[in-house]
Amino acid sequence: MSWAGRGGRAGGSGGSGESGESGESGESGESGEFVESGASGRVAAAMAAQPRDRFLPRSQRRRAGYDGPLDIGHGQTNSQPRTVRAMLELLDVRPGQRVLDVGSGSGWTTAILAELVGPTGSVLGVELVPELVRTGAGNVTAAGVPWARVRQADPGVLGAPDDGPFDRVLVSAMAATLPVELVDQLGPHGILVVPVHGWMLRVERDDEAPDGVVVTRHGAYAFVPLITG
Ligand SMILES: C[S@@+](CC[C@H](N)C(=O)[O-])C[C@H]1O[C@@H](n2cnc3c(N)ncnc32)[C@H](O)[C@@H]1O
Repeated sequence: MSWAGRGGRAGGSGGSGESGESGESGESGESGEFVESGASGRVAAAMAAQPRDRFLPRSQRRRAGYDGPLDIGHGQTNSQPRTVRAMLELLDVRPGQRVLDVGSGSGWTTAILAELVGPTGSVLGVELVPELVRTGAGNVTAAGVPWARVRQADPGVLGAPDDGPFDRVLVSAMAATLPVELVDQLGPHGILVVPVHGWMLRVERDDEAPDGVVVTRHGAYAFVPLITG
């Protein structure tokens, strides 16, 4: 078992570079120099506890240190580390939470989320491509975080409405519009991080807000499409 929530410290992601799935930013102040604290420190520790190479096809493992998306077959990618880190910092996952990972792909984000929630929490990864469900589930099992699992996404159903509500929802594929079905799967004060029409959005459920949610925008990104319908 390798739960980073014990408080381990991690090396930074280092790396630079650009790619088809890239944060535009420049605004975040992210650099090798900044002090790891709060959400940043927890995310760095969780990413260090689940090294990327273990979630890549054998042919891609030597490229694990590349800060860009990597091919995992079936037209899909293992996400760019800098992007994963930025999304997880926005998601602000806490120990003990229930988390949904939409588009679990290689299983990497599912395993990192499992590190963040720890054994008192749970993570459900859902994935559309059956072959990736198999490899992603195998990778998550090998990651030593039995409170996380991956299952086939139900055709025509976005997320996992029967398993909710969730404290946090991460979406690693680009939606055309804000997926209301996923907002509905959030519990009170739940947070959804999802790329929508080129922008990374953080959506927090707040029953006192006029629309019941507070939506903020966090830089331009490119992703594979979120399949709906
Ligand atoms: C960028 S890739 C995988 C990223 C993944 N988190 C990782 O670390 O490897 C996005 C994934 O979303 C999946 N996907 C797209 N639409 C989906 C949907 N509606 N439900 C579940 N998975 C979906 C794709 O099949 C693809 O594997």
